[in-house]
Parts: sequence; structure tokens; C-alpha cells
Amino acid sequence: MKIIHLSDLHVGHKECGERFRTIIRNINSCLQPAEEYIIVVTGDLADNANKTEHREEAAQSIEELENHGYRVLVVPGNHDYGTGTIGNVRNVRLFKERFYNDPDITYPKLDTINGTAFIGLDSTAEELNWHDRIFAQGELGRGQLGRLQKIINDPAISKMMKVVYLHHHPFDFKIGRQLKDSDDLRSVIENRTDLLLFGHYHRSKKGALKVHLGTWGIPRCYNAGTATHKNGNPGFHRVIDLSRPDPAMDYDGDFL
Ligand SMILES: [Fe+2]
Repeated sequence: MKIIHLSDLHVGHKECGERFRTIIRNINSCLQPAEEYIIVVTGDLADNANKTEHREEAAQSIEELENHGYRVLVVPGNHDYGTGTIGNVRNVRLFKERFYNDPDITYPKLDTINGTAFIGLDSTAEELNWHDRIFAQGELGRGQLGRLQKIINDPAISKMMKVVYLHHHPFDFKIGRQLKDSDDLRSVIENRTDLLLFGHYHRSKKGALKVHLGTWGIPRCYNAGTATHKNGNPGFHRVIDLSRPDPAMDYDGDFL
């Protein structure tokens, strides 16, 4: 089982929707059999969640991947709850309905697949509760972190490989866009996670899109940038094989 990491698709923005369809076509022709791959999308699927057509086009493209036989796991980014800077709580439920078929799901979203635990976090919803719904840096909130702690401590889960994925950048303080409760997340997952995936930061300010190996005692930490290259910014389509302990075997599929 291998993982394909995508992020920040921004479907609805200029030609990002078309580019995502190109990525889907190329994944489908290069990475087979589809059943051997889990595609993880770390947020900003739509560019403006207030627009039905953005949400629908993003969701239909994800369905297309699933129809090809890929298992797809998604978490929301700030653009999936509104414009990206101002959110609307109504979109939290719409996202769950459309992507999980379950409006009452709570985060972390846990999926165990072939002995690997995929733990999806919502780093955006907590921000809808303060500062008049204006998004800043991302926040997980105490409730979600408590539930995450419980999952990580679960004896069955603790024996598994663990993939934690979220939208916001968890630890690069240089870029000023890291998670507000980054230290609390660190205390829960440090040395207890095999792979940490995130996005949110598009621009290639020095070091920001770097691969982080070994940070927080996590062997592989990857920022995917913007997979559809929104506004000409860089993005990666990394293919990760957790069964190989050497991260040097992971590669950018460059499907666009
Ligand atoms: Fe984004």
C-alpha cells in the first residue's frame, strides 16, 4: 500500500479544476493497480466554499478518483469553509455531508486501512469560533487534541503505523502561518507518528516547502504546496511507500 499526497487543489480558481483533472488522468495512467494506493488530500479542495459550483466540481473530481478505484481521504482547509479569509460555519456541515456522507462526524477522523491508522485533523473549524470568523493561522482546539490523544494512546492503534494529516503547517515558525496550538499537537504526536502530511503554504519562500525528515521525531513530514500550482506556485504529488523505511525512496510523481 502506497500513499499519494495532494494538497491545495483550489478547484474553482482559474484553471485549477482542469489541472486537477489532468492530475487525476495521469495518476490513473501511471499508478496501478489503483487499489494499492491511498490518496490523501490535505485541504483547500475548493477555492471558495461559499460557491456551490466550486464545492461541487471539487467533490465530483474526488468521486472520479474513487470511481477509478483509489481510496481517497480528505480533510478541510480554510478555503473549504469560506473564502479562505472569512469562514461560514454552515460550510463545516456541508463539507462533512459531501465528502464523508455523514454530517455528524467529529475530528480526528480515523480510518484504519491494512494495518495503518490514518488520522485526519480539522485545523480550521476552531477558528470559526473567534475573531468574527476571520481565519488566521489554524487551530485544532482542546477538544480535538484530547480526542487525538485518546486515539494515539489506544493500545491497538499504538501498534500500527500512523499517518497524521491536516491542512495547516504544524511547525515552521519562520513562515508565520503555522498552527496556533502547534506545541500542544507536538506533545501528543512527537515520536509517535510515522508520517505527517500538510499543505496550506503555497509560496516557495526559502525553506517553507522543504521536506522535513525527523522533525518532532517523525521520520517523514511533507508539505505538498499547491498540487494544481495555484497562481504559479509550487506543489508536489508525492508518492510515499511506508513499507520502505528509507524516505529517500519517496518521490514526486509530478502529475501535472
Ligand atoms: Fe491553499
